[in-house]
Order: sequence, then C-alpha cells, then structure tokens
Amino acid sequence: PRVTYIVDGVKQTVEGATGDSVMITAVQNGLDGIVAECGGSCSCATCHVYVDEAWIERTGRATEEESELLEGAMSSPRPTSRLSCQIELSDELDGLVVEVAPEQ
Ligand code: FES
Repeated sequence: PRVTYIVDGVKQTVEGATGDSVMITAVQNGLDGIVAECGGSCSCATCHVYVDEAWIERTGRATEEESELLEGAMSSPRPTSRLSCQIELSDELDGLVVEVAPEQ
C-alpha cells in the first residue's frame, strides 16, 4: 500500500508493506520528521501525525492510550492526531495521506 507523507508542506509518496506501521514505513524510507524514540511501543508520542480528514474514518481515531500520550506531544494534538506506530498498513489504506506533526 502507498502512503503519502506531508513533511514541512512537501508531499512524499512511498510504497509500504502490509502489516508495517506508518511510522516504520517512514523510517525505512528515510523520511525526515518522525523521530519514533520508543521504537513503536506506543509510549513516546514522537511519531505524531495528523491523518488527512478523508482518511480518518478508515484509520480510526486515536485510542484512549494514544490520546493520553498525544496530550503531551510537542505539536498540539487535533481530532485527527494519531501515533503513526499504531496505524497498520493494509490494502484498505492504500493511498493514505498523513501530515507529519512539525514538532516531535
Ligand atoms: Fe513511540 Fe510511536 S514510536 S509512540
């Protein structure tokens, strides 16, 4: 599945693997902006993204655990905020668009 990341206003589209997270896909493709300090275990909030409005129903919204971490994120959370390590790629999400939060 393809994922488009918007980093500092610039769109970059990469091909990810089903089952990989949106976070790991960015890291593996050398994209800037996602720090992912905890390595994907939902405990750091440095993989904060804003899911494109058109996709938020398909990715689902942040869980309670994510929301608590997002409260402490460097960039203010929005209703479409997610931790990108908690979004798993699937064919259903082919074409997903996320904006990487400017401060991690
Ligand atoms: Fe730490 Fe996602 S990488 S919460």
